[in-house]
Amino acid sequence: MKRSLLVTSALPYANGAIHLGHLVEYIQTDMWVRFQHLIGNEATYVCADDTHGTPIMLRAEKEGITPEALIARVHQEHLRDFSGFHINFDLYHSTHSNENRECAETIYLALRDAGLIEVREIEQHFDAEKGMFLPDRFIKGECPKCGAADQYGDNCESCGAAYTPSELKNPRSAVSGSVPVLKPSQHYFFKLSDARCQQFLRDFTRSAPNGIPVLQHEAANKMQEWLGDAGENKLSDWDISRDAPYFGFAIPDAPGKYFYVWLDAPIGYMGAFKALAKKQGRDFDTVWKPGSNTELVHFIGKDILYFHALFWPAMLHHAGFRVPTRICAHGFLTVDGSKMSKSRGTFITAESYLQQKLNPEWLRYYFASKLNGTMEDIDLNLDDFIAKVNSDLVGKYVNIASRCAGFIRKQFEGALGETDRTVFDRIITDEALTEIATAMEARDSARAMRQIMHLADEANLYVNDKQPWLLAKDPEQRAQLHIVTSTALNLFRSLTVLLKPVLPALATQVEHFFNAAPLCWADARQPLPVGHRINDYTHLMNRIERPMVDALIAANAESLQAAEQTNKTPEKKAANVDAAKDSQNEHINIDDFTKVDLRIAKIVNAEHVEGADKLIRLQLDIGETENGVARYRQVFAGIKSAYDPAQLVGRLTVMVANLAPRKMKFGMSEGMLLAASDTDGATPGLYILSPDSGAQAGMRVK
Ligand code: MSP
Ligand code: ZN
Repeated sequence: MKRSLLVTSALPYANGAIHLGHLVEYIQTDMWVRFQHLIGNEATYVCADDTHGTPIMLRAEKEGITPEALIARVHQEHLRDFSGFHINFDLYHSTHSNENRECAETIYLALRDAGLIEVREIEQHFDAEKGMFLPDRFIKGECPKCGAADQYGDNCESCGAAYTPSELKNPRSAVSGSVPVLKPSQHYFFKLSDARCQQFLRDFTRSAPNGIPVLQHEAANKMQEWLGDAGENKLSDWDISRDAPYFGFAIPDAPGKYFYVWLDAPIGYMGAFKALAKKQGRDFDTVWKPGSNTELVHFIGKDILYFHALFWPAMLHHAGFRVPTRICAHGFLTVDGSKMSKSRGTFITAESYLQQKLNPEWLRYYFASKLNGTMEDIDLNLDDFIAKVNSDLVGKYVNIASRCAGFIRKQFEGALGETDRTVFDRIITDEALTEIATAMEARDSARAMRQIMHLADEANLYVNDKQPWLLAKDPEQRAQLHIVTSTALNLFRSLTVLLKPVLPALATQVEHFFNAAPLCWADARQPLPVGHRINDYTHLMNRIERPMVDALIAANAESLQAAEQTNKTPEKKAANVDAAKDSQNEHINIDDFTKVDLRIAKIVNAEHVEGADKLIRLQLDIGETENGVARYRQVFAGIKSAYDPAQLVGRLTVMVANLAPRKMKFGMSEGMLLAASDTDGATPGLYILSPDSGAQAGMRVK
């Protein structure tokens, strides 16, 4: 029976670029939805930008534009990136939409009528200079446990302690730098502590609609911890209101109060569907009312499990809507074993990947080969990425076609011959297909890819064994040549069916090559008939070469200064602690230090770099010559926010002269300028260094 599914990915914040970490989720969801289509199910895939909240409001202010203008621009950027990676949403909407406002109001009013909203006065940190209440992430100070400076108001990145902003020593507002004061305010709470909510959540988190648990095993255990045993009442009420100024939806019956961004964010799934339903003339209630036959499946990262497994279902249920059928959480992406890092160049944006002309399907395949349906982190190991794509996709899969296609075209006028069913049926078995489908359904694409590559190995063994290139030399073997190459091509076609959710663009090319209707699951077991004419074979996929990956890393490597500047924007999580920070507390020995060749540099030229918001291009004299002519170092420095190029020319400063040259988007960078910067965010600024008078260009600093 045909299943009906509504599938979502988490809504990315509208104040940042899509990066490869995000893509773990969107690629995973997209593959799953495409797989559902392939096997004949009805699946709708919606997503949206998550547009509300303080960070977005402040970001827009900093850019001197309205939040509406910011989110409109980012919406375009996100859509461009997603389509570049073949993410095929039925609708990519926005939480700042009428549909979402309607849904948020409906849910809130229903919760209020059910007696689950309570108003309470609380004290909150207030930035009197800026006239706004401060989210925890916008308060910085010293860690109450270990004393580390420059820590956020909710947890310490140095010792890992969790605390409240009131416990911070010497707290400061990250917005204005002023000392926050406590100020009372009326807040609206969703009463999760209500016995009805706790009971519902205990049942929900353990439920298994159609025999499949709503949560993965590890997620269910985590929820169990949070919920405690019956009667324990461990959940506290959830603060769902924020005071003006706030970019969000006004609470209908509460002037000056806004819904907290995390209230209307998951409702954004509903809002997006509502907008799509309007467009397609579909019924909203059929999907969203209790008893719906549509499965509601959410793909999310493990960091937002709490919101999706507790708050969201509780909101839905008590407001009279259906609840999620399944919540699929995945782990976090690391690159070469570490957190993505801006200074190391491993904080790779989707845009840069596409701009550097890497094939999006390489990444889709690599992620597919790593994702196994659990919450384990997944590592993008760059060597493994190159090796796996080259060996599996180019060396195994495409190789079958590239070795056999030419014969059909040249010797048999493009007409397929007979397929050797003994061979075909031995390799493409019902059991193999079922196993692959089962793995894909369970989001264990790693397992599915291993099985598919096993089949590709078998197909290659067959070709190796029959050696069509030798058969082609013997006119008496012509019939045999036709059978062997037709069988191999049909095996290749079956593999394409299996890989289609992962490699949709490549599959389209292959469909054209075979000159037949778009492939569906059943085609995998059904070779094309004798006499079927195929088109010319065109090259399907290149190998990844190491320099392409190096260029990608270089394009994403910001100078340390620029990286630090960017890292100042408070974020929900500190996913981008950079190398400078990692090593901040470790000792180095003198040999380590002397490895750094610091030189006095004279700035002989400085200019803006077109298309770069942070960089200035510098020509630096460190006393080097080439064939008797002065040779200047070109360095890109992320200091545009603090310096006017004209003001720099003629100055002496300090640079690192033996940093490996790096190809950046705008040209080679042959060193790095040193600059001091304020790290606590209170008095942001960048200060390059000046030697005392008498120092000369080229002198070593040690
Ligand atoms: N706006 C919220 C989600 C609201 S959903 C109602 C949010 N946005 S996000 O942009 O920070 O993240 C979007 C999704 O990408 C989340 O599921 C998050 O877990 C995932 N990822 C973000 N960085 C990631 C990695 N480095 N690795 C894997 N997934 C990551 O959270
Ligand atoms: Zn600490």
